[in-house]
Amino acid sequence: MIFPDYRPRRLRQNENFRAMVRETRLSPSQFILPLFVQTGKGVKDEVSSMPGVFRLSVDKLAEEARDCLAAGVRSVILFGLPASKDATGTGAYIKDGIVQRAVRELKNAVPELMVVTDVCLCEYTDHGHCGLIVDGDVDNDASLELLAKTALSHAEAGADMVAPSDMMDGRVAEIRAVLDENNFTNLPIMSYAVKYASAFYGPFREAADGAPQFGDRRSYQMDPANVREAFREAAMDIEEGADIIMVKPALSYLDVISKMRDEFDHPIAAYQVSGEYALVKAAAANGWVDGDKVMMESLLSIHRAGADIILTYAAKDMARLLTL
Ligand code: PBG
Repeated sequence: MIFPDYRPRRLRQNENFRAMVRETRLSPSQFILPLFVQTGKGVKDEVSSMPGVFRLSVDKLAEEARDCLAAGVRSVILFGLPASKDATGTGAYIKDGIVQRAVRELKNAVPELMVVTDVCLCEYTDHGHCGLIVDGDVDNDASLELLAKTALSHAEAGADMVAPSDMMDGRVAEIRAVLDENNFTNLPIMSYAVKYASAFYGPFREAADGAPQFGDRRSYQMDPANVREAFREAAMDIEEGADIIMVKPALSYLDVISKMRDEFDHPIAAYQVSGEYALVKAAAANGWVDGDKVMMESLLSIHRAGADIILTYAAKDMARLLTL
C-alpha cells in the first residue's frame, strides 16, 4: 500500500464516495435530550449559560415533546426543580413531585416519546449533595433507600427507564430490587456508572440549581485522572443489574468510552454535558467557530469512540441537520 499505487484521495474525491465509505453514522434515534422541568405555569426560561436550553413548566412539556419527535428525537431525560428543598430531598420521591408530574403529563400527551428520568437527590436537598448527610458527610448506605424510593416513584408515574446519577455505591442493586419487588421487572436501568467529578457540570448546576452548598462531590464522583477504576465501576453496576452503562462527561473522556466499548458488551451511553455544550455555544456566539459543525463533529467523535447513545442538549438541532 504505497504511493503511487495507493492513493487514499481516490475515495475522498466527492460526497458519493465519501458517504459510501463513511465508517460512523449518527442517527437522531441515538440521541436523548435533557429537559429541565419546574413548577409554575407557562414558564419557558432560557438558561443564560446554555443558549437554546430552557426550564419548562409542566404545561409546556407536550409542545416540547412534539417538537422532539418531529425532529426525529425519540427520547428525553428529565431533571426537576422542586418548589422547595429539605435535608432529605423529599421532593425527589413524593407522588406529586415535579418529575413525577412531568412524566405523567408526557406519557399522557405524547405516549410514543420515551421518557427517561434522572434519579438523584441533589436538586431536592437543601445542602445540594446527591445523598443524605450524616455527621457532616454524605452517607452512602442511608442514601440507598431514598434513591430506590425515587426510582420507584418515577416508575409508578410511568417512566420508561430510570437513570441513577448519584454515584453512591450499591445503588443499582437497591433500585433493581425495589423495582422488581413492585413488578417493574421490565423497566431498564441506565446507570451513570462512570461519572467523573468534573468542572464541566458548571452550567447544569445553574440550570438545575443543584450546586453543593458545602464541599464538593469528589468523595463520590470519580477522579478525572482514573481509567482503571472505571472498569471496576462499570463491572460492578452491570453485576448489580444495569442495562446500559454511561460515561460522563463525554469529550474529555473519549479514551474511557473507547476502553469501555472494548471491555463490555452492554450498550454504552455518553453524556455531552452542560459545559461541553456551553463552550461550543459561547465560541460560536463570538463568531470564533461554526457552532453547528463543531457540535456535530463532537457528537460524531463520541459515537466513533464507542458510545451507542448520546445525551446532548443539542439533540433537536443536530437531529434536524442530520435529516436535512
Ligand atoms: C445530578 C446530575 C448532574 C448532571 C447530571 N445529573 C450534576 C452533578 O453531578 O453535579 C450534570 C449534567 C450536565 O452538566 O449537563 N447528580
